[in-house]
Amino acid sequence: MTKKIIITIDGPTGSGKSSTSRAVAKKLGYIHLDSGAIYRAVCLYFLNHNIKVNDLENIIKNLPKINIVFRKNNLIFLNDKDVTDNIRSPEINKNVAIYARVQEIRDFVTLISQKMIKESGVVLDGRDAGAVIAPQAELKIFLDANPKIRAERRLKDFGYVKNEKNIEKVLREVIIPKDSCDKDTLSVAKKQGFIVDTSKMTFEEQVDKIYKMALKKTK
Ligand code: DC
Repeated sequence: MTKKIIITIDGPTGSGKSSTSRAVAKKLGYIHLDSGAIYRAVCLYFLNHNIKVNDLENIIKNLPKINIVFRKNNLIFLNDKDVTDNIRSPEINKNVAIYARVQEIRDFVTLISQKMIKESGVVLDGRDAGAVIAPQAELKIFLDANPKIRAERRLKDFGYVKNEKNIEKVLREVIIPKDSCDKDTLSVAKKQGFIVDTSKMTFEEQVDKIYKMALKKTK
């Protein structure tokens, strides 16, 4: 019987972490755990309760009231409400990286993510998955791509027309600010992981590369 391992896939916004992790997990018959989705659900809770990012007292008071679970097909529930779509809103996109910098929130998300990894056979994606959430992972990937390519990929996600003006806008309004907010976690992740630069790869190629690396580790 092949042994099951833990794989972490970290990287900047638009590098394709979530879709790649999901596809690799499916190929291996593993569970996929999207830690970014947990940060998004926590951010949604605080925005819904009008708790500002600098209101540390209320953040600490409310963290124990937050219950996050994944149900089939990667649906995410926040306190029993399906928030799978809500966590992808422009408002969450704008605020999540800011809330994710609060150490108390990071500790909370790390703890609940660790509880979700009950056993091996998991592909975990995020920013600090390999360094902090699952340092014991047997395979740590840092998925990268140049900022312009990442902006183009985000354009596609948003359904915008691909032209220089729109690429420039996504680069300026999404990629550069998020990279700046995630700078510290990303620099640690980059040192930890095996760098896979996907700038010139197709989606299938990047999935296949990580899948093959995983197979080597399971022998
Ligand atoms: O991967 P994503 O865009 O869904 O992640 C949302 C935010 O959460 C992102 O701005 C960075 C943060 N994040 C983090 O700090 N650490 C993680 N392990 C995962 C996400």
